[in-house]
Amino acid sequence: MAKTKSRWICQECGFESSGYLGKCTDCGSWGSVVEEIATAPAASIRGASANTLTSGKSLLSEPLSLLEDVDFGDCKRLPTQMNDVDEVLGGGLVPGGVILISGEPGIGKSTLLLQIAGALSKSNKVLYFASEESKGQVKLRAERLGLGCAQIYLDGSHNTQEIAQKLQEAKAEVAIIDSIQSIYHPQISSASGSVSQVRESAQLIIDTAKDASTSVIVVGHVTKDGSIAGPRVLEHMVDVVLIFEGDRTRRLRVLRTIKNRFGSTQVSAIFTMTEDGLKAVDNPSELLLGERLELVGKKQAPSGTAIISAQEGRRSLFLEVQALVANSNAGANSSPKRLANGWDTNRLLQIIAVLEKKLQMSLGRADVYVNVVGGLDLNDPAGDLGVCIAIATSYMDRSLDPGSVFIGEIGLTAEIRAVADLEKRLLEAQRLGFTHAYVPKANLPLSKNPGKMKVIGVDSVKEVFEQVMPQLLHRTKAQSQPQATNQDINLASEYAPASTEMV
Ligand code: TYD
Ligand code: MG
Repeated sequence: MAKTKSRWICQECGFESSGYLGKCTDCGSWGSVVEEIATAPAASIRGASANTLTSGKSLLSEPLSLLEDVDFGDCKRLPTQMNDVDEVLGGGLVPGGVILISGEPGIGKSTLLLQIAGALSKSNKVLYFASEESKGQVKLRAERLGLGCAQIYLDGSHNTQEIAQKLQEAKAEVAIIDSIQSIYHPQISSASGSVSQVRESAQLIIDTAKDASTSVIVVGHVTKDGSIAGPRVLEHMVDVVLIFEGDRTRRLRVLRTIKNRFGSTQVSAIFTMTEDGLKAVDNPSELLLGERLELVGKKQAPSGTAIISAQEGRRSLFLEVQALVANSNAGANSSPKRLANGWDTNRLLQIIAVLEKKLQMSLGRADVYVNVVGGLDLNDPAGDLGVCIAIATSYMDRSLDPGSVFIGEIGLTAEIRAVADLEKRLLEAQRLGFTHAYVPKANLPLSKNPGKMKVIGVDSVKEVFEQVMPQLLHRTKAQSQPQATNQDINLASEYAPASTEMV
C-alpha cells in the first residue's frame, strides 16, 4: 500500500505548505489552504510506459471497449419501493452510485433514509452507519416508523477507514452513511466536518462503493447560507445530489435533484411529515392553499395576496403569496426593509424597481415584505406577476377576485415574458377551481384548452393592472403613498377580472 502522510494545499493556486496557514503565502487568499492526504507519487505515465516497453509487462488493467459492445450488466437499477423517491432518482438506485442528500438539521433526512432502508431491506442487504446517533436512537425511530423488525444492519463507526472496510466486506446492495460530517479519516488531523475531512472521507467511500458495487447514500448538512457544508468539490465527486428542504415548523418537505448522472433533474417529490414518518403528497396545492380555495366565488381575497404558480419538477403547484407594503420607519440615511420568505430577494428587488420606474409607485420609503405561504422556497420566475400583484394590492389596500391566478415572468421593461409548461399549469388551476388566469400573451394560443376557465393574455404589467386594478394607474396624488390598511371596501364587482374571451 502507498505510504501516506498529509500536506496542506492552497485551493486557489496549488501552493503546498507543511502546515496550516490562514492566508496563502503565495497568492494571498484567505482560508484556502486545506489539508489533503499525500500518497507517494506513482511512476509517471511516461516513465511507466517506458518501463513497460522494456519489461514487456502490461500495466493496463482492462482493454479498450467499443461503446456498442458495452452491456448494462451490473447497472440494473434497484427500486427503493418508495415510488416518489424512485421517480426523483430516475428509476431507483444504481449499483456503485453515490448519492448525497443534504438539508438543514431536523428537516427529516434520517427519517427518509430509514424509511428507504426499511423498504429496501425486504429483499436486499442494507447497512446503516449511524455515526450521528446511537443505535438505540435509530431503533426508537424505526419503531416509530413501524420498522422495528426490519432487517437493517446498524453500525456506529466514526472512522471512515473502518466504514470502508465494512462496506467492502459486507458486499451489501445498499449502505447509508448518516452523516459525512460526523465521520473522520484518521490520516487527516483536522476535526470531523472540516473541508479536508469531508473530502477525504467522501473519496474513500466513493472508491469503496464503486469497488463493492454498493449503492451508497450519504447525508450532508447544509450551512446557514444553504450550501452543502464541506467543499463544493463534494458535489462534483458524487453521482447524485439531492436536496431535502421545507420549513421545519411546517409539515411539507420537497426532495429535489440538483445533479443526477443517471437521470433527469426535472423531477421532485413532495412529502408531509406525519406522526409516523414521511408520506408522499399527491395534490400539494390543496394542502398549501387550504382555506384560500374556499374563498373562490364567495368572498374577496384579503388585500396584499395573490395566487402564483410554480413548477416543482413536473408538478404544477399553486400557492398564495402575501405582501405587506408599509411606510418605513428607517431614517433618511438608512434603507427601508425588503424581506422575502420563500422567494428570491433579488427578484423581489427587481419587481420593486419595475413598479417604481414603470408604474410610478413610491416604494422608495416603504418597507416591503413578501411571504410565500407553505414554507416552500420557490425559484420559478413565473411567480413574478403574482408577487407584483400582491405588492400592488397591499400598496393600494385593494382586494381582488380570489378566483384569479397570475402567471408570468416580468422583464426589466415591465413586459410579461413567456413561461414554461403553461398548459400544464392551467389544467391544474382549472382542476383546483380557479376561474381566471392572467398569462403571458407570448404563450398564446394554447395547444390545450383548460376548460371553463377564462384565460387572459397580457403583454405588460400595465396591461394587467388596467384589467384588475385600474386605480393604480389613475391614482390621485393622495394615493401615491402606501395606503393605510383595513379599509373595509368591498370591491367585488368593481374590480372583478375583465371577462376577456379566451385567446
Ligand atoms: P430527523 O429525520 O432526525 O431529521 P434530520 O435527520 O434531517 O436532522 O427528524 C426530523 C424531525 O421529524 C424531528 O424533529 C422529529 C420529526 N419526526 C416526525 O414528526 N415524525 C416521525 O415519524 C419522525 C421519525 C420524526
Ligand atoms: Mg439526522
